[in-house]
Amino acid sequence: MIGQALDRVDGPFKVTGRATYAYEHWEAGQPLYGSVVGATIGRGRIARIDTHRAGRSPGVHRVLTSHDLPAQGTPDPSLPFEFWRAHPVMSGPDVDHYGEAVALVVAATVEQARAAADLVDVEYTVEPGSFDFAAGLEQAYVPAGPIYGIVPVATAVGDFEAGFGSSPVTIDERYTTPYELSQPMEPHACLAVPDGEDLIVYVSTQIVDAARASMASTLRMDPERIHVVAPYVGGGFGSKLRIHAEAILAAFAARALRRPVKIALTRQQIFQLTGVRPTSDQRVRLGAQRDGRLVAIAHEATMATNRHWEYIEPTAATTRSLYAAPNRLTSHRLMPLDVLRGEDVRAPGEAPGLLAVESAMDELAVELGMDPVELRIRNEPSVDPERGVPFSERRLVGCLREGARRFGWERRVATPASVRDGQWLIGHGMAAGIRGHFQAPTTARVRLAADGRAVVETDMTDIGTGTYTILTQVAADGLGLAPDRVRVELGRSEYPVGAGSGGSWGAANSSTAVHRACLALREKLVATACADTRSVLHGSDPARATFADGRVSIEGVSEALSEIVARNHPNGVEADGATVAMTDDPNYRDYSIHSYGAHFVEVAVDADTAEIRLRRMLGVFSAGRALNSRTARSQLIGGMIWGAGAALEEEAVVDARSGAFVTRDLANYLVPVHADIPEIDAVVLDGYDGKANVLGAKGLGELGICGAGAAVANAVFNATGVRVRDFPITLEKVMPGLPPLVS
Ligand code: MOS
Repeated sequence: MIGQALDRVDGPFKVTGRATYAYEHWEAGQPLYGSVVGATIGRGRIARIDTHRAGRSPGVHRVLTSHDLPAQGTPDPSLPFEFWRAHPVMSGPDVDHYGEAVALVVAATVEQARAAADLVDVEYTVEPGSFDFAAGLEQAYVPAGPIYGIVPVATAVGDFEAGFGSSPVTIDERYTTPYELSQPMEPHACLAVPDGEDLIVYVSTQIVDAARASMASTLRMDPERIHVVAPYVGGGFGSKLRIHAEAILAAFAARALRRPVKIALTRQQIFQLTGVRPTSDQRVRLGAQRDGRLVAIAHEATMATNRHWEYIEPTAATTRSLYAAPNRLTSHRLMPLDVLRGEDVRAPGEAPGLLAVESAMDELAVELGMDPVELRIRNEPSVDPERGVPFSERRLVGCLREGARRFGWERRVATPASVRDGQWLIGHGMAAGIRGHFQAPTTARVRLAADGRAVVETDMTDIGTGTYTILTQVAADGLGLAPDRVRVELGRSEYPVGAGSGGSWGAANSSTAVHRACLALREKLVATACADTRSVLHGSDPARATFADGRVSIEGVSEALSEIVARNHPNGVEADGATVAMTDDPNYRDYSIHSYGAHFVEVAVDADTAEIRLRRMLGVFSAGRALNSRTARSQLIGGMIWGAGAALEEEAVVDARSGAFVTRDLANYLVPVHADIPEIDAVVLDGYDGKANVLGAKGLGELGICGAGAAVANAVFNATGVRVRDFPITLEKVMPGLPPLVS
């Protein structure tokens, strides 16, 4: 059952419109609608705010500014993950980035709220801000870290400078990546409903417990009085790990007006009120012997951060585990700016980091005249090259070889700009991928009813990834039931608490917790039956029990689970299962636990216009055991498409005068559409990583993007001979270097 391509159990609900998202819960009655007013300066103070006209506008119930809000909690830095910390909104006159919330209008309809929002009159005292990342890089500082409370900011092994200095072949290049935003399909939305002293919060979030904790501490409420409901979430990609202005302001307004209030950010507001992947400037230095063996590797990343809200993207972190080399250096520096706060976006760290490192490896292969697949295999480490501990399950070479075979890599022509198809220059590129695997505390409950049906409960979310489906499979497998006898209930703070969906830890964490709950439940059932004189299993050896087809069998004698439950637990029987934090699990200390990928790409570049068309993308991945082959492949393909976007399209552009993003909708902030994506395939190697967890499964939600963009970039180089190190690779960067036309 585990691993099979079971159809999504929530599919029928989604296609028939019965899957209710945060904005779509009507059971609380007619709500009021909130519209957030954003600051029109990047740095300064509100000098005066006049809400009279807005307040008299048709349908308006209330206009809230910082003067109307009670004192809010402040973020507790001792909580390692920011997602659980307070998120004060409109807490004073200061503006620390463009678009920050300065007022909320609450009205009877969304149109009335938005119309009145335009009438809020704000005067600012503008202070000069810093908005230009490239202009002041020398002001970058080394943050204290550790990143996420666990990842060191900088590492050094051996003597990098000496090793690099003595290397016969070297690469020393800078790569830059732009600001990017998560941009999930479902906008950030919240419906807050007062219920006596309690608050019911329907919110689009990746982590229910974080939403509850963050709201409770911001609103200074008892967390027990906040009930978060998030059964369906339309994507998050990092931007819903924490809650934002829409949730805090809906909650304050609902409490002030004693009415349900709902707020959805507009697409434009998502560019102002959520978080951004920081722009980066990365220096990569590789020193190698002539046979390709790396002597020295350095990855130094400088990134933007909001001056008041430090965010460190772990851009160089997994470079520490990627290739062997005795002399090594990684570091992260931050450039303080007055721009939107940094947040995790789709494979934080690896996504921009591997664009740089895997481009540099391609440059090294060119310099050496060596096949880039072979170069990577030659630098395969036997143990984690920085920590010295063994890898749990490392199959990067397997991914590389299998990918090369399936793609037909041996037919690739190494000389750049030498293959043509009419007007098109054809190129092939590849890159490796790596991503850390994380574990975070998660609990799940499994209950078996007297009719033999099981219910799984956890506050884990399904953000479109397939959680409902995989947990159905894990529970069906664990109890020996058909999947249609299992119901999975997610996304409510009343359920056992977990770490939600983030960092690609959700599937492995929640599945392990469900599996353990099933084991505990099995033990209870077997003990009950073996001790029950009414059972045919009475007196049998509990250690020999097996579960299948809704029955427990011991040495040829079997009984239906429903009978055991009905006889002994007429109200049902339940058990909990849990995982622990990785810092409390010795495997994460004793092993280097990662997932891997290898990407192969074919591009065609128009010889006249430099238009880049993807022709083929193939990824081969290793992430332990896949819990559902279809949802796994689907996620990996999604990740590869993010990679294509990062390589060729995605770029949020800041106006260096105001700090505003001028790309503020999906017409200007480009992401791949169907017409951009070619024949694409993701293959998952059969695997099992028993060091990661008992199910052998590792995260793969963000693995697909890791390295995918670099493979595209390397294919563009192979097609044209033009190396673009400033992402995205848009055609004006390629065109000047195109080879002269052959007529
Ligand atoms: Mo992912 S960016 O950690 O949701």
